[in-house]
Amino acid sequence: MEYDPNIPKSLYDSSGEKEWTRLTRNRLGELLFHVHMDIARSHITHDKDVLELGAGAGIFTKELVKLGKSLSVSDISPKQLSLNEQNMRQLGLHQAIRRFELLDITNLGVLNTDSFDVVFCVGGALNYTLDKEKIAIREMLRVLRNGGVLILGVLSLISAVIRAMSAVIAERQKFGIEATRWLLDTGIQDAEHYPVESKHYIHMMRAQDIDALLQGERIRVVERRSAGLLALAGEECLERAKMDKELWNLLLEREIAWSKRPETLDCGANIIYVIKKIGATH
Ligand SMILES: C[S@@+](CC[C@H](N)C(=O)[O-])C[C@H]1O[C@@H](n2cnc3c(N)ncnc32)[C@H](O)[C@@H]1O
Repeated sequence: MEYDPNIPKSLYDSSGEKEWTRLTRNRLGELLFHVHMDIARSHITHDKDVLELGAGAGIFTKELVKLGKSLSVSDISPKQLSLNEQNMRQLGLHQAIRRFELLDITNLGVLNTDSFDVVFCVGGALNYTLDKEKIAIREMLRVLRNGGVLILGVLSLISAVIRAMSAVIAERQKFGIEATRWLLDTGIQDAEHYPVESKHYIHMMRAQDIDALLQGERIRVVERRSAGLLALAGEECLERAKMDKELWNLLLEREIAWSKRPETLDCGANIIYVIKKIGATH
């Protein structure tokens, strides 16, 4: 299926303010925030010019602005971008942000080549780009300076299938076994093969899909991490664990430690790559 920018745009325009609490309203969100921030803190220092893509309502914007030297913020959804701006204004951080811009990651044409030290694109913007994934990767690498890093987070197929098994069962009844096989084989939920009513057409990924996209680029993968690994336990169980502060802190510590293990890579809700640019893009 061809990438249609109107799909993520209208999905996120209509999800509105919900996005601002996306990583605080449940324990999966808390785990994701915890791991992403561990990665952000180790790669973003006060001397870095940072570009945030697919920034949404600003959950990470409010943190990145304090970590780097400068921050430019963007999203494809006008609604999310204006919520981001509004949230930053309320937090008194608005002035510290260089610019807010409507940008599609498959076309960063308004941005100069070699102009950022860090590109931060997490939470799945890449998953929407379907046949334009490679173009998006190249655009993100193009705007990075040599030696700069792309922090790229995508939705994991394997974790999504495990956590959403009841939807998989219901959709098998609706779309048939060949559609289910397609989804499990490719991770692609699209109008042609897996026509979900929500029109949430995406390519959920495995680490090997990201590796394939990076083939031939002048890059070195610095870190491969999973995030939201413990979410496989289910939300209700994690809520119970959180009632015991000592236990929850221990689990958060393990979430970080295990997020670095190669054998867990595909099992987190998100897969995060830290990719260093080591030469000009083609
Ligand atoms: C799940 S939200 C994540 C937001 C934020 N990065 C976070 O982690 O909280 C995904 C965001 O990606 C944006 N997005 C989706 N496709 C995009 C594209 N092709 N270009 C730029 N942004 C996109 C959406 O509008 C949405 O705000």
